[in-house]
Amino acid sequence: MSIIVSPSILSADFAYLADEIKAVEQAGAEWLHIDVMDGHFVPNITIGPVVISKIRKHSSLFFDVHLMIDDPMQYVKDFANAGADLITFHAEAVTDHNAAIQLIRSFNCKVGISINPETSVDTIKEIITKVDLVLLMSVHPGFGGQRFITDVLPKIQEVKRIIDNSGKNIDIEVDGGINDTTVKKVVESGANILVAGSYVFKHNDYKKAIDSLKN
Ligand code: DX5
Ligand code: ZN
Repeated sequence: MSIIVSPSILSADFAYLADEIKAVEQAGAEWLHIDVMDGHFVPNITIGPVVISKIRKHSSLFFDVHLMIDDPMQYVKDFANAGADLITFHAEAVTDHNAAIQLIRSFNCKVGISINPETSVDTIKEIITKVDLVLLMSVHPGFGGQRFITDVLPKIQEVKRIIDNSGKNIDIEVDGGINDTTVKKVVESGANILVAGSYVFKHNDYKKAIDSLKN
């Protein structure tokens, strides 16, 4: 599988969001990672469907929407209508994972499931082969610019084994603390979608940053 970089707009300059998104698109990004936080599931508040629907008009990137919110099912419709291509919910925030998957699919969006650093792969074992993407958090969700938690590496390998055994084409995305150093082990462990917020947006050359992750 080829490596895709999904720059997280959490570290972009929100005053110039459309320009920032165009800049990462020109720099070679294919996906855009959009962190939605509600101040409940995580101790930070970011953006919602209103902003996503506005930036949708300025970008043809694949919108990778990461919901870090309580009761994500209540808002799936709004995010789908706003222009999400993929909606990822946290396993910790939902009791009926199958119902969540069905609901997201009913809006023609791809489905991702995410687990926090302290959540074991066991908790999603039965569900992995039913989604399009597994998002493994390599920081405690809520903020950009945190340090990569290496405990995620065996979890990537475990998810990769499950996916390989299933014969299905399911993406493994890793989110948090990805930079030109940590990327190596993440990719070696089996991830193919790399979220990078501060590493890309704090770099003075977005293209160099994205290329350094891809290669
Ligand atoms: C954290 C978010 C991440 C964040 C990553 O809760 O889910 O997507 O933006 O930021 P960096 O790449 O700076 O760790
Ligand atoms: Zn994220």
